[in-house]
Amino acid sequence: MKTFYITTPIYYVNDKPHIGHAYTTIACDIINRFHKLKGEDVYFLTGTDEHGQKCEKASIKASIETKKFVTDMSKNFSDLVTFLNCEINDFIRTTEKRHIKAAQSLWNKLLSNDQIYLDNYEGWYSVRDEAFYSKDDLIEKNNKFFTESGEEVEWVKEESYFFKLSKWENKLLDYYSINKDAIAPKTRYNEVISFIKSGLKDLSISRTTFKWGVPVPNNKDHVMYVWIDALCNYLTSIGYPDENSNTFKKYWPGTHVVGKDILRFHAVYWPAFLMAANLEPPKRIFSHGWWTNNSQKISKSLGNSIDPYEVINKFGLDQIRYFLFSEVPFGNDGDFSEKSLIKRINADLSNNFGNLIQRVCSFINKNCNSIVKNNFDSEIIEDFNLLNASLIKFKNYKNYLDNQQIDKAIKEIIELITEANVYCDKLAPWKLIKIDKNRMNQVLSVLVEIIRRSTILLFPIIPDSSKKIFHILNIESEKINFEKFDFLLNKEHTINKTKPIFPRIDNTNNE
Ligand code: MSP
Repeated sequence: MKTFYITTPIYYVNDKPHIGHAYTTIACDIINRFHKLKGEDVYFLTGTDEHGQKCEKASIKASIETKKFVTDMSKNFSDLVTFLNCEINDFIRTTEKRHIKAAQSLWNKLLSNDQIYLDNYEGWYSVRDEAFYSKDDLIEKNNKFFTESGEEVEWVKEESYFFKLSKWENKLLDYYSINKDAIAPKTRYNEVISFIKSGLKDLSISRTTFKWGVPVPNNKDHVMYVWIDALCNYLTSIGYPDENSNTFKKYWPGTHVVGKDILRFHAVYWPAFLMAANLEPPKRIFSHGWWTNNSQKISKSLGNSIDPYEVINKFGLDQIRYFLFSEVPFGNDGDFSEKSLIKRINADLSNNFGNLIQRVCSFINKNCNSIVKNNFDSEIIEDFNLLNASLIKFKNYKNYLDNQQIDKAIKEIIELITEANVYCDKLAPWKLIKIDKNRMNQVLSVLVEIIRRSTILLFPIIPDSSKKIFHILNIESEKINFEKFDFLLNKEHTINKTKPIFPRIDNTNNE
């Protein structure tokens, strides 16, 4: 059986989750559910990044003991996974024993492979990004230095272990020249390549000025730099350091979905650490864009973060899942506004798909005693064309989702539904009932079939609603899989009573 390993970044627990975090998690769930529909054995990992100065500072600010603080905050993220209806296999916390063991093993491996040395570090550090900066990357204002995103950096001078990143420059370039699909979208691939070509310096990978981190083996003055600890989570969950464990052998290397802000850590440092530890680099890293709130960057200081609970309770989970991935090409930045959200949900889900389900199924309920009489005739050109269009769309959809192009895959389904609505208008079963019942039954069965197929394709994006639609169609939800995509319904099939799945949202307040 083909296997597939998908991961979200692990989230810092310095603050409550917002829509940006929900976005990455839902993206991975869509990819996870898609690969499951293909019949693959999928492992989906998410979790929390709990070490480092950023989390320690947040706990001090909240006057809560750090261990308790990170435990409470982590729960907000694991609760969110459930709330978002994401089917994960594991939720990892970097403060867990299994992870500390894995991170220390990775460290020891790098040490024994002569990839680490002890020296002194002096330079700028941003706690917000948990990243080191060179002066060229910073902006000076009144003798203070700031990152491009406006965060003040601090001067750090301490003894530090270094990873020999500079040694990996050519090996990374060679790797990426052969594996051109290892980073997507293409623009991000190009960015990474030019970053590597601009020259890689050895990387400071330990800190001595605070204690909240994984202890460096055999040197109690140092804790690991939070990123080396964090990246290792992808290995921990599947059994590392036991490289012979069943899960490790089955799932590594995996696919990482990450925001554009953390691409460098994943596409430069991480594969270098892995290769330096004789492990395979990730199969693929997909980098997505950032959401703004009514065109403003979402930030704590502006107080404009979008609470996923609030918007989901207001508009519905599947509605938000759908909006986030249909509105904006996956990989680009997007702007979150209620106006565009309502417009999108009403147009695609209520007016297009909802309307198709409602008019076809309620017609069958009322006029056919809820029975669809399936007598497809492949000789009839318009029936053949619509059913055939669904097969073409299905193929395109799979190609897109295999490359994480979620928005393009959704577009294929919406186009199919639009075609079905046009077909329904043109063939008008409400007219046929008076003149040609046999043809009416044919048309209805084609329409029910298209509803069934569209529902399967929409399942990764809107799983709950898809199950509800299958209930209306009176088909068990176990039958939502690709294997059964083009089977046709039985000769006579009774559907259930229809009810609206995507009620129209009143948008009078937003116009
Ligand atoms: N802890 C690190 C990741 C370590 S992975 C080994 C981290 N955490 S984070 O909580 O700051 O961010 C996690 C993810 O949320 C990132 O992929 C980031 O891009 C994403 N988002 C945070 N804000 C976002 C938006 N406003 N919009 C979209 N995604 C954004 O980085």
